Amino acid sequence: QACPHYKFVVKEVPYTRLCSTKNILTVNGQFPGPTLYVNKGDTIVVDVYNRGKYNITLHWHGVLQPRNPWSDGPEYITQCPIRPGAKFRQKIIFSTEEGTLWWHAHSAWLRATVHGAVVIYPKIGTSYPFPKPDVEIPIILGEWWKEDIMKIYQDVERYGGLGLTSEAYLINGQPGDLYSCSKPETFKLKVNKGLTYLLRIVNSIMLDSLFFSVANHTITVVGSDGNYLKPFKRTFIYICPGQTIDVLLEANQSPNHYYMGASVFSIAVAGAYNNSTTTAIVEYNGNYTPSSLSVFPHLPSHNDTEATLNFTASLRSLADKEHPVDVPMKINTHLFYTLSMNTPCKNQSCPDGAWRLLASVNNISFINPSIDILQAYYCCIYGVFGTNFPDFPQLYFDFTADYLPMEWEYPQLRTEVRMLDYNSTVELVFQGTNLLNGSDHPMHLHGYNFYVVGLGMGNFDKDKDPLMYNLVDPPLQNTIHVPKIGWMAVRFKANNPGVWYMHCHFDRHMVWGMDTVFVVKDGESPEAKMLPPPADMPPC
Ligand code: C2O
Ligand code: CU
Repeated sequence: QACPHYKFVVKEVPYTRLCSTKNILTVNGQFPGPTLYVNKGDTIVVDVYNRGKYNITLHWHGVLQPRNPWSDGPEYITQCPIRPGAKFRQKIIFSTEEGTLWWHAHSAWLRATVHGAVVIYPKIGTSYPFPKPDVEIPIILGEWWKEDIMKIYQDVERYGGLGLTSEAYLINGQPGDLYSCSKPETFKLKVNKGLTYLLRIVNSIMLDSLFFSVANHTITVVGSDGNYLKPFKRTFIYICPGQTIDVLLEANQSPNHYYMGASVFSIAVAGAYNNSTTTAIVEYNGNYTPSSLSVFPHLPSHNDTEATLNFTASLRSLADKEHPVDVPMKINTHLFYTLSMNTPCKNQSCPDGAWRLLASVNNISFINPSIDILQAYYCCIYGVFGTNFPDFPQLYFDFTADYLPMEWEYPQLRTEVRMLDYNSTVELVFQGTNLLNGSDHPMHLHGYNFYVVGLGMGNFDKDKDPLMYNLVDPPLQNTIHVPKIGWMAVRFKANNPGVWYMHCHFDRHMVWGMDTVFVVKDGESPEAKMLPPPADMPPC
């Protein structure tokens, strides 16, 4: 049976937002880009035509792509870019994912406008683990940059780009009615009283995590990152870049217009709506005079770390017969990775003479190679990457103390990967550090979901904290929000051979070097080996 084919033409088209028009890079002229609809377990083929003027690659965020890193997409990690005028056929293999994921460009900062939702329906003949919603709709949280995104990217790469922010956040491509210029185009979700709506929420934003809420409505969280969850009710969700969250919205209030709002975790002030906020409208159908549009949803205040931790800790796997938990119990590979912000390239000048800030994992600030790591690994091209990524930081200190000495801020600039034997059982603890005042980090791993078994504030205590792990119903995720001065522990079994990128999904941090790679070796049996490369891999 032939798999469904899609044609993605990357091209620039003019779009107008906030009263000004500019060319943005799109897929098929759409912004946000086209939604892909598949059933669980499908394989699809996407032909990507680059008709833009920049190199590009596309990534299927959260799709595990078993044994098929060739189509995963991160530039210089699993492929070289598709050049202007060139074409690349990508095979997207869905396996256990269900719910919502997304696709996006994985090259420079092009994902700012090149992205779209991936809706994964249940296998034909099966159903959702919750009452079937009446209507389903993707809600894409995005942003609008007045400046050309390539210029912004270059600024971040060369000079750090501190303080850069977009001009507006968007819900389904619209800034909302807080901006007089965009008022008429505000995204509206028209609802019928009594029906249930499945909102498939994607955070595609470059630099910020968001709170999202609908005024006067309690929502039920049912899934995240392409995995269903034990349903739980909340008045808001917290979503970091890269994550997807599925929620049920019951239209059970008196007919009216209600705000749907999202605001930035790090900037928003509760109740005060400004350009760190975007709005859309939930509009009940029927005969009535709308009254309460002034009611904004209540979102937690900025830097409310407790609200974010609390939300994150509420995610639980279904852990039932159809969704068994398979968390590795016996760990043979213990990894402890510190996530740090660092001072600019100093004596060890940046590769290109830039003086950007740096960021690091275990004090290694990742340098992109010029031939992709997958090809170098597969074709045994030596000298492209090293295999000495450290399992632990070289230096232990009080990672979360208030003032940390300058001399700990200088990372090494290297291209190092961690090799993993097939079927290794890995526990990876991410430790946020307070170097340069620290930051949250939405860490994302390609090719895998991991079980989030523990999280907490402060320094990870390897004797005490593991006693508190949730090994019963930990959530399966591909992107997790590691708190600024806290830690998160995840576990996974390295059963997907290939080259898999791991990085902070704040693109600024990624550009500064907060990224690394796992190379998972082939196993013995034929089903434990990488698939062969397609014939049309873009050349370097
Ligand atoms: Cu959303 Cu490396 O990906
Ligand atoms: Cu980060």
